Amino acid sequence: MTTTDSKPPTKNTHLLSWVDEIARLTKPERIVWCDGSEEERVRLTELAVQQGTLEPLNAEKLPGCYLHRSNPNDVARVENLTFICTPTKDEAGPTNNWMAPKDAYEKLGKLFDGSMKGRTMYVVPYVMGPVGSAMSKVGVEITDSVYVVLNMRTMTRMGSAALGMLGDSNDFNRGLHSTLDCNPDRRFICHFPQDNTIWSVGSGYGGNVLLGKKCLALRIGSYLGKKEGWLAEHMLILGVESPEGEMTYVAAAFPSACGKTNFAMMIPPKRFKGWKIWTVGDDIAWMRVGEDGRLYAINPEAGYFGVAPGTSYDSNPNAMRTISKNTLFTNVARTPDGDVWWEGKDGPVPPELIDWQGRPWNPKSTEKAAHPNARFTAPATNNPCISKFWDDPNGVPISAIIFGGRRATTIPLVMQAFSWVNGVFFGATLGSETTAAATGKVGVVRRDPFAMLPFCGYNMADYFAHWLSMQGKLVNPPKFFLVNWFRKGQNGKFLWPGFGENMRVLKWIVDRARLRVGGQETPFGWVPKAGDLDLSGLDIAPEQVDDATHIDLEEWKNELSSLNEFFDSLGPNMPKVLKLQRDLLLARIEAIQSQA
Ligand code: OXD
Ligand code: MN
Repeated sequence: MTTTDSKPPTKNTHLLSWVDEIARLTKPERIVWCDGSEEERVRLTELAVQQGTLEPLNAEKLPGCYLHRSNPNDVARVENLTFICTPTKDEAGPTNNWMAPKDAYEKLGKLFDGSMKGRTMYVVPYVMGPVGSAMSKVGVEITDSVYVVLNMRTMTRMGSAALGMLGDSNDFNRGLHSTLDCNPDRRFICHFPQDNTIWSVGSGYGGNVLLGKKCLALRIGSYLGKKEGWLAEHMLILGVESPEGEMTYVAAAFPSACGKTNFAMMIPPKRFKGWKIWTVGDDIAWMRVGEDGRLYAINPEAGYFGVAPGTSYDSNPNAMRTISKNTLFTNVARTPDGDVWWEGKDGPVPPELIDWQGRPWNPKSTEKAAHPNARFTAPATNNPCISKFWDDPNGVPISAIIFGGRRATTIPLVMQAFSWVNGVFFGATLGSETTAAATGKVGVVRRDPFAMLPFCGYNMADYFAHWLSMQGKLVNPPKFFLVNWFRKGQNGKFLWPGFGENMRVLKWIVDRARLRVGGQETPFGWVPKAGDLDLSGLDIAPEQVDDATHIDLEEWKNELSSLNEFFDSLGPNMPKVLKLQRDLLLARIEAIQSQA
């Protein structure tokens, strides 16, 4: 028999009957409706500690912080087990795994049947985006994991505010999650865009189970964006403030674990005295055309689910301050006095640690102390450089869109697209070397269009067409840029120092977007003219900067040649204009080489 802790805090009949239907399927012992209150946080945190799901950390060093160790078989997103369940395979397109909706409901329905027996079922209403904004969406996640509830509380506007925004409406995302027995053979993340529904089973890892994030804000969101005429993107949003107080907003897409959080919280180098970076979001942007014909962006999230390894006072001081309190750490190592540690953290390597799997560790150990995809979940409001407009229901106007990947060769430090189509081409052909954020081989270049390959909820070719069509709606469109912080020299070392020094590149981008600096035309786009990038006070050899910014025609020829196969792999819906764009760029190289 299922009992409900207290009277459901809503009269919304659509929601009540769905919760009832799911309870009949999953058969929990109790149902708890989450209200998002502080009292609830304290209660659930205590429960999680009792259950061994969370471990309290040193309350003096890290007030309000806890450690979670996931099942070692469950440490990253599982792209091979993630499905888009559209009525036809063609709607999901060749880049997504597909299951027919009926088959998926049947297969997962069997797994969900009785999955919450003896467990508590939490009903978590939440809003993605500022409460009450016309750009925001309501979701409800039903889960049997306290860890998920506590993470959702940080990552979204969770609880009563969401029910208030929903009112009597049937327009909400229905998310169902059960950790089940955390068995990879019984792990599936299924999206039903037409039903605005997500079913996730068999995992407890953030990207698979915090359903507001990748599942709703990107996969379902991109489908809704196409249907309703807006864009759901895997992009950070930041504001650049000049010493005169001029504010310019940019959105930037980088594949997972390419330093998006670092870029979104960057501290400019000394040379840029008076310049400030303000974070609006570090991972996801929802963008719509405003009444003035500009593109406006909101961050649908309320927290950061960032990669811990590599985060330090050196690489990202603002992130370190952000995660100094009220933060949940997942799969990091722990010091004997209850502090956290990971590879790349400041200071000496501690002589002894408990590793991410709870085993004793010392510097001689051959395995890493923290999992490479160890995470922190921290409230956005902890961020010392949070933008005062981060929660603005109207969003912020975007002047530039940046695409960046992790590329050892070919892609220069920065380049501006000639046009909207050229910019969409940059996004569509974005490539990056793979990292630990997803399971699979690390270090191979894969095409990751718009950094959306694992997150586009419909046919990628149709997604490109949607981007192309947005041009017609924008009177005042943002400019597009391609960047690469990760180019390597002959010696295999990075050519560009990255981190705060990226401000030098960002300044050029802002000046270009505001039409106040010239550029050097190349066959592929505009690059800074000699002297346009402010390099003063930068302690690297000028040849190194030359190598980082260099365009090598042979490398580009290879790059463009390889795109034929990639475009063909995207099927018959691939927009012709992007194929022509590739041919045009290749023809430009041939024209130059034929005269040489
Ligand atoms: C993330 C990712 O967790 O992109 O943000 O994998
Ligand atoms: Mn991401």
